[in-house]
Amino acid sequence: MSVELNFADGRPLPLRPFATPAELDAALATRIAGDLAGASAATPASLALSGGRTPLGLFAQLSASALPWPHIAVTLVDDRWLPEHHADSNAGLVRRALLRDQAASARWLPLVPPDATGETPKLGAGDTALNQLNGSLDVCVLGMGNDGHTASLFPCAGETATALRDDAPPLVAVRPTSAPYPRLSLSLPPLAAARHLYLHIVGAAKLDVLRAALAGGELPIARVLAAAQGEVCVFWSPDHA
Ligand code: 6PG
Repeated sequence: MSVELNFADGRPLPLRPFATPAELDAALATRIAGDLAGASAATPASLALSGGRTPLGLFAQLSASALPWPHIAVTLVDDRWLPEHHADSNAGLVRRALLRDQAASARWLPLVPPDATGETPKLGAGDTALNQLNGSLDVCVLGMGNDGHTASLFPCAGETATALRDDAPPLVAVRPTSAPYPRLSLSLPPLAAARHLYLHIVGAAKLDVLRAALAGGELPIARVLAAAQGEVCVFWSPDHA
């Protein structure tokens, strides 16, 4: 399958297309495992993941991977301001789908406290988590919505313009108008500084959204990918099995 992606200035954006989501999940898990395999007590590593539906198969693959999990800090690129037991909590999703089997011993650093209540996101626990990461993220897996959002950097949210600045604080509170729940999200600087930045998308519609976003250059997904300082690669498959 030949699919190409380019930024607005003509630079190519590396893309790995797969025939099925299952093949994608296996390949992305293998790539991430390779990136994290050298983690040790002396050189701990970090992995920041997205929520949503797309990464479920990837989480299953990763949870079965024999990695030095006690030396790998796992966090999220964003979460909803919800208690962990809520069905829409990304932390709850990661706990159920990833932090099990081999990965049960990973060092889990949630952005949102497990007992979060109320409508006003607080940055404290998330800032503490990010401070424990020892610098730049090693691996960051992004998702993307059909509006061009990534993490919780929604085009509709008033906070997003600031979060996309080079001098933004690493963690921001975001109140999208087109999606439920107030959220916490990593901002552009920590996402762009990741050593390995992977965008994980499934379906022809999302590839079209991405292509249009790259051409326009303004939507959050395009801004983050264009700012990437390390390796960047899109993992894509159609959504049929
Ligand atoms: C979240 C995200 C978000 C997600 C996209 C894609 O908390 O919802 O981290 O950025 O990756 O909305 O979601 P789907 O995988 O469900 O399409």
